[in-house]
Amino acid sequence: APQQPTDRFHRPLHDLRISVTDRCNFRCTYCMPKEIFDKHYEFLSHADLLSFEEITRAARIFMSLGVRKIRLTGGEPLLRKNLERLVEMLHGLRTPEGLAPELTLTTNGSILARKATLLKEARLDRVTVSLDALDDAAFRQMNDVDFPVAEVLRGIDAALAAGLGPVKVNMVVKRGTNDAQILPMAEHFRGTGVVLRFIEYMDVGNTNGWRMDEVLPSQQVIDRIHAVHALHPLEPHSAGETAQRWAYDDGAGEIGVISSVTRAFCGDCNRARLSMEGKLYLCLFATHGHDVRALLRGDPRSGLAPVSDEQLRAALAQVWTARDDRYSLLRGTAAGLAQRAERRVEMSYIGG
Ligand code: GTP
Ligand code: 5AD
Ligand code: SF4
Ligand code: SF4
Repeated sequence: APQQPTDRFHRPLHDLRISVTDRCNFRCTYCMPKEIFDKHYEFLSHADLLSFEEITRAARIFMSLGVRKIRLTGGEPLLRKNLERLVEMLHGLRTPEGLAPELTLTTNGSILARKATLLKEARLDRVTVSLDALDDAAFRQMNDVDFPVAEVLRGIDAALAAGLGPVKVNMVVKRGTNDAQILPMAEHFRGTGVVLRFIEYMDVGNTNGWRMDEVLPSQQVIDRIHAVHALHPLEPHSAGETAQRWAYDDGAGEIGVISSVTRAFCGDCNRARLSMEGKLYLCLFATHGHDVRALLRGDPRSGLAPVSDEQLRAALAQVWTARDDRYSLLRGTAAGLAQRAERRVEMSYIGG
């Protein structure tokens, strides 16, 4: 098999996160604040988006470079028409060992009840649903479009029923906004088989007005739950995993914490991110992307012809080999502050 590249910190390429649309039907205040993402905001037009064929071709080359896991994100990925067809196409890809990629999806769950069976039939492996509160009023306030929590819970149930598990639920914790929902969320999902994960609020993008005092360190999340239901730590499933895992002593399942702020996990970061318009980002906090679409399609403006698979592979390998991103480790240092001062990619554009 051809050689697989590692980056400047010896990190292999393992996960590919593909954002399929920059649109979302929610306006979560920490991600797409209404003041900015209003009716004047210019979302991408269809011609700018990579086609399913282009995405699948890129993914095939990425798999030859080491990718084993593909996650579809958005915006809200289920807003992309016929997404299940893309899932089917990606499922048809093979690793050099002849295995299909692990296929997952991160969704806000709003239309998951309608889509779960189709996604399963297209051979999606599992889903992760974002949910920041269990209390209906609190949830409506966080999504800022008055969306009811019951509908998302119905989506989670549909995913469980369709066999899209283990289903994970992601809760972004903002101190003073939804931290009172930590225990109700833990209580609700205990014993259901759903893996609830608490995410430290991060300084992604340029529009959410992030402040350190709104971050609730994961250790405090664990302390609060442990005080009511005893927990013990679990070993990681794999190197480079985002979440630290904990299990309830009484056997009611596991939870996770994703602590990008208080316990950076850049050391093993093996994730590349491809945007809907074909820009490749090497970090969630990157200030610029590499134009993969120009390679796939060619670019008449600069007289660039479409490249062959071999050329594409070589170009992507070179980009990965030069990678030195590690923003979460630099956060707070002079280099991190300088990066923060630059314009960074938006969460709704790159999908987390
Ligand atoms: P699993 O494979 O199910 O563990 O998914 P995941 O944790 O890789 O992906 P998911 O989309 O569920 O992401 C959970 C949270 O972790 C989101 O808030 C992401 O933005 C964040 N996250 C994922 N990958 C990274 C990363 O490489 N760096 C940072 N800083 N945050 C990340
Ligand atoms: N900090 C942490 N997580 C965030 N997400 C969106 N914005 C942020 C942020 N600023 C989460 C979403 C979703 C995941 C992909 O990223 O809620 O669960
Ligand atoms: Fe949409 Fe997810 Fe951003 Fe909320 S966090 S606005 S659901 S993309
Ligand atoms: Fe990877 Fe960047 Fe996140 Fe660090 S901050 S884990 S390098 S995506």
